[in-house]
Amino acid sequence: MEIIRTVEWMKQTSRQAEAAGRVIGLVPTMGALHEGHLSLVRAARERCSPVVVSIFVNPKQFGPSEDFQQYPRDLDKDRALLENLNVDYLFVPEAEEIYPRDFRTSVHVQGLSDKFEGRVRPGHFQGVSTVVLKLCEIVRPHFAYFGRKDAQQARIIRQMCTDLNLDSEIVVRPILREPDGLAMSSRNAYLKNDDRRAAQILFQSLDAVRRKIATGAREAGSLLDVLRSTIASERVAELDYAEIVDADSFEPIHFLRGNCLILVAARIGATRLIDNVLVEEHGGNFAVSL
Ligand code: PAJ
Repeated sequence: MEIIRTVEWMKQTSRQAEAAGRVIGLVPTMGALHEGHLSLVRAARERCSPVVVSIFVNPKQFGPSEDFQQYPRDLDKDRALLENLNVDYLFVPEAEEIYPRDFRTSVHVQGLSDKFEGRVRPGHFQGVSTVVLKLCEIVRPHFAYFGRKDAQQARIIRQMCTDLNLDSEIVVRPILREPDGLAMSSRNAYLKNDDRRAAQILFQSLDAVRRKIATGAREAGSLLDVLRSTIASERVAELDYAEIVDADSFEPIHFLRGNCLILVAARIGATRLIDNVLVEEHGGNFAVSL
């Protein structure tokens, strides 16, 4: 695995691969890698060569009072994990490489970026869209891999690629979970002792909704009641939002139909966690993917 630290070298390397007719895969990450990230790398490995993984803790997607400084970083460990999966290139630019002093541009995917995570974290998705556009332009991947764990992010990136006519196809992969159901996340490292146990409540609330759907419930209000009351049963959990939305528009829906997402965000102590399930309609039946 070659480690690349400059934009220029990453561009040259990718352009050569492209000229040689190779299929380039990109997995953008902020490091502190876990099985969720690695599942994206494996998916890229199956279809693409070379596989490029980027690790960049993007300052522009953190608010002033957020955890940019504390965000977990362990390049040696990440590097070993990626070597193991036969990644071809690890792109690890410094912040000044991505945002030189006179950097002025920002990408804003209107509407989709302003609700849910975007409302709680103003400017977050502009930071995400801007850096992902840059990475897609530097690497020009045929396929770029994202996790449904961050469903709103994946939807925004897909919209950006369509709107800006990027050649990269966005591939969205399922959520990897810990044995107790907690969605894997680099931020789970913040959860100590009781908070780690309490964090199960997000998955449990979604699983309770899944069971309710299995009994034939279709009305969003009653499904959300189940979700909210489950979260409320955990003393240290504080619900941020819970909503059932159309998977395409991210507009709230009243009855399950088509493809929808059940979104939940909650604080467990000082740690903010998000999770979701995908509900897909097939001929009147609903399949729920946790
Ligand atoms: P990061 O949080 O490191 O996540 C990188 C990718 O891994 C994202 O696409 C995310 O959805 C996916 N991922 C995280 N946890 C997952 C899980 N449990 N199962 C499956 N996939 C999971 O998301 C970002 O970084 C940044 O916003 C980034 C896109 C890199 C832009 O800076």
